Amino acid sequence: MMKIRSHRRAGIYNALLLVLFAVILSSCGKKANGRRFHHGEDYFEYSSINCRAYAASLTEFGGIGDGITSNTKAFQDAINYLSQFESYGGSILFVPPGKWLTGNFNITSSHFTLFLHQDAVLLGSQDESEYAVIDPLPSYGRGRDTQGGRFVSLIFGTNLTDVVITGNNGTIDGQGQIWWNKFRNGSLQYTRPYLIEIMFSDEVEISNIVLVNSPSWNVHPVYSSNVVVRGITITAPVRSPNTDGINPDSCTNVHIEDCYIVSGDDCVAVKSGWDEYGIAFGMPTKQLFIKGLTCISPTSATIALGSEMSGGIEDVRAEDIVAINTESAVRIKTAVGRGGYVKDVFVKGMTMKTMKYVFWMTGNYGSHPDNNYDPNALPVIDNINYQDMVAENVTMAARLEGIPGDTFTGICISNVTIGMATSAKKLPWNCTNVAGVSSGVTPKPCSLLPEQEGLSTCNFPTDHRPIREVNLRTCSCKNKLFKRNGL
Ligand SMILES: *[C@@H]1O[C@H](CO)[C@@H](O)[C@H](O)[C@H]1NC(C)=O
Ligand SMILES: *[C@@H]1O[C@H](CO)[C@@H](O)[C@H](O)[C@H]1NC(C)=O
Ligand SMILES: *[C@@H]1O[C@H](CO)[C@@H](O)[C@H](O)[C@H]1NC(C)=O
Ligand SMILES: *[C@@H]1O[C@H](CO)[C@@H](O)[C@H](O)[C@H]1NC(C)=O
Ligand SMILES: *[C@@H]1O[C@H](CO)[C@@H](O)[C@H](O)[C@H]1NC(C)=O
Ligand SMILES: *[C@@H]1O[C@H](CO)[C@@H](O)[C@H](O)[C@H]1NC(C)=O
Ligand SMILES: *[C@@H]1O[C@H](CO)[C@@H](O)[C@H](O)[C@H]1NC(C)=O
Repeated sequence: MMKIRSHRRAGIYNALLLVLFAVILSSCGKKANGRRFHHGEDYFEYSSINCRAYAASLTEFGGIGDGITSNTKAFQDAINYLSQFESYGGSILFVPPGKWLTGNFNITSSHFTLFLHQDAVLLGSQDESEYAVIDPLPSYGRGRDTQGGRFVSLIFGTNLTDVVITGNNGTIDGQGQIWWNKFRNGSLQYTRPYLIEIMFSDEVEISNIVLVNSPSWNVHPVYSSNVVVRGITITAPVRSPNTDGINPDSCTNVHIEDCYIVSGDDCVAVKSGWDEYGIAFGMPTKQLFIKGLTCISPTSATIALGSEMSGGIEDVRAEDIVAINTESAVRIKTAVGRGGYVKDVFVKGMTMKTMKYVFWMTGNYGSHPDNNYDPNALPVIDNINYQDMVAENVTMAARLEGIPGDTFTGICISNVTIGMATSAKKLPWNCTNVAGVSSGVTPKPCSLLPEQEGLSTCNFPTDHRPIREVNLRTCSCKNKLFKRNGL
């Protein structure tokens, strides 16, 4: 009985696939009439964590790339259709050259790739009705901008395995100006949408795309694991509100590599929930690896840890970083009531020019979701290591403010040369409620970080790359990929 049933089901499935096959074939590779697609438009190669068996183009689902017509339905129809191939080698949705206006759409299947041609521009709709209102994140208890719900991100996905957003550096333009105005003039009813939010997912890749003018945060992997963000360019006006670059939030094993970010807020902001909500949810961000980051952010940090860190942040390693005209290099932001911890942070190999501070720790960041936070929930900040850095034109070398009765401990700073600006503050280091050591640092650190004899380096982990390697495959979209392998 079971057998017959499943057999019949398979038969129906195959019949369905046959019907769908015409659409699939005409999408990419060799056309049904034998004509080859133009190179670069319909045949493409790329590297990714996983290749796909089936492909389709947005235009097959009624997409119109005129910059005026809404493509929300075309995107969602295309993705829903391609979801059928989830268990048959996965699928890729190709977005061809054009200006594709769209509101929110969701990635609804695992083993899915969204691929943007280099001349494809997704234009985020400025119409609020194009973004459903969804529940606040459980670890935040409310939206960041407002109490209550939040507008779903432009591209949203949850409970997925193996999802990729990539391209030949095609663009996603959030058209954020109208949202920034609403934020500033207090007319937002809900929290602004992000450009990309992937939640409760495993194996996520976001690579080789350009993100501009996000309404708020750009890339937000949350409650996810094995996340790769590679070769992306993010730009927003340096005065735009909360346009953080990449925000790993309660995630495990995240690689951020070769990214270039100009923004109005932190280039990378590492998070894990907010006060009592984050403590209750209890999901840390851990095993974060950042390599090859260039940041310009005059009002914010290159790498911020917090301020929402109530689920904990641990095992952060960062290297090969350039910061220009940026407020600080690494900033730990926390507050009484946050609870959680920031520990085992290792940053080395930073080159900086024109910085307000190199090192900044803020124990009184404030900013609570509501008044129900626990005043006894003190954050633990421990084992924070900075090494092999050079900075020029710096206003103040370090401003390190722990919490009275909750000293930030285990700070180690070694082999750091900071060239002060002519207009520099008289006191290059100002430290309160912190403890640690230093070695080979100029200008001479504060007395709470005394020079330690015989210390040549901080205690960096010696294993070269503790976090799982990212294996990239070379994928191409061509004829043979559309055969019904294995069916
Ligand atoms: C995307 O998912 C959210 C959350 O489930 C939902 O509210 C919204 O309607 C979905 N968007 C579309 C275009 O279906
Ligand atoms: C997504 O996964 C989370 C965590 O495992 C679970 O709590 C939630 O119910 C799932 N949501 C859906 C829509 O499956
Ligand atoms: C995309 O941009 C990155 C960063 O600028 C660059 O390294 C990469 O070569 C570009 N890739 C393509 C396919 O153009
Ligand atoms: C706030 O800004 C939005 C977007 O520019 C505008 O539509 C709205 O009229 C403004 N509201 C107020 C109260 O100024
Ligand atoms: C040094 O920094 C100041 C801002 O503090 C800036 O105005 C000036 O242009 C910088 N000088 C150089 C040489 O970059
Ligand atoms: C000190 O840091 C610089 C980079 O800023 C690096 O080139 C140099 O090798 C380091 N010195 C030691 C002794 O590790
Ligand atoms: C040093 O930091 C402390 C604590 O934040 C502050 O009260 C004090 O004014 C600072 N001193 C100077 C000279 O900036």
